[in-house]
Amino acid sequence: MPRLRYYSLLSPLRNFCRGPGIVINGSGASIRVMKILALIGSPRKKGNTDLLVDAALAEAAKHGHKWEKLYLYDYEIKPCVDCRVCKKGELVCVLKDDMPKLYKAIDAADVLILGTPIYWYGPTAKMKLLIDRLRPYVANRKLEGKKAYLVAPSEEGPSACGPLVDGLKMSYKYLGLVYGGEALITANEKGEVAGMPAEMEKARRLLDDL
Ligand SMILES: Cc1cc2nc3c(=O)[nH]c(=O)nc-3n(C[C@H](O)[C@H](O)[C@H](O)COP(=O)(O)O)c2cc1C
Repeated sequence: MPRLRYYSLLSPLRNFCRGPGIVINGSGASIRVMKILALIGSPRKKGNTDLLVDAALAEAAKHGHKWEKLYLYDYEIKPCVDCRVCKKGELVCVLKDDMPKLYKAIDAADVLILGTPIYWYGPTAKMKLLIDRLRPYVANRKLEGKKAYLVAPSEEGPSACGPLVDGLKMSYKYLGLVYGGEALITANEKGEVAGMPAEMEKARRLLDDL
């Protein structure tokens, strides 16, 4: 039997022995492949948030993980109106907008990255709309045990991020998400972080513990 054919017969068995979603990465380590969903809350495509999240995702991909990146400004997200329908019955939100697409992506992910610039010491309005609409997960517990990270550039840097980090940590905990860590970056002009190697490196290291 040719060598190639012999290998192709054996490899499904090897993967089976390691369990579903387990692969050997480039360094020879056995890892569980994670599906990472990055949600970008900046209106600026190729802005600082976008580039920093790209750096984190590219590094994770090198280790064999899969990812998807969505720009929240491409989606209509209506404000939560506290109707509380999501606390009963099917535990779903009934507002009519693009959130079902985002809920589907969130449900399918193992790991979340929320990327938002600091706007007035908090997230952008679009990211806040998304966070408010995570309300169904309080009851349905579908986020329980998933890891979630934060990427947040700002003009002032980490000293401006306290309210956001504290609020997100509490919110993640309430939702059952495990706080993975953050990359708090000092950058202001559109895309200028690309020329800041030390800041880009912080983003590249963000998902090292996956
Ligand atoms: C409305 C608005 C509010 C902002 N508020 C703050 C702030 O409170 N503190 C800060 O350091 N930077 C603030 N910034 C600057 C942004 O956080 C900064 O430019 C960031 O790099 C933008 O990221 P982006 O390129 O991903 O959009 C603000 C910018 C805008 C447009």
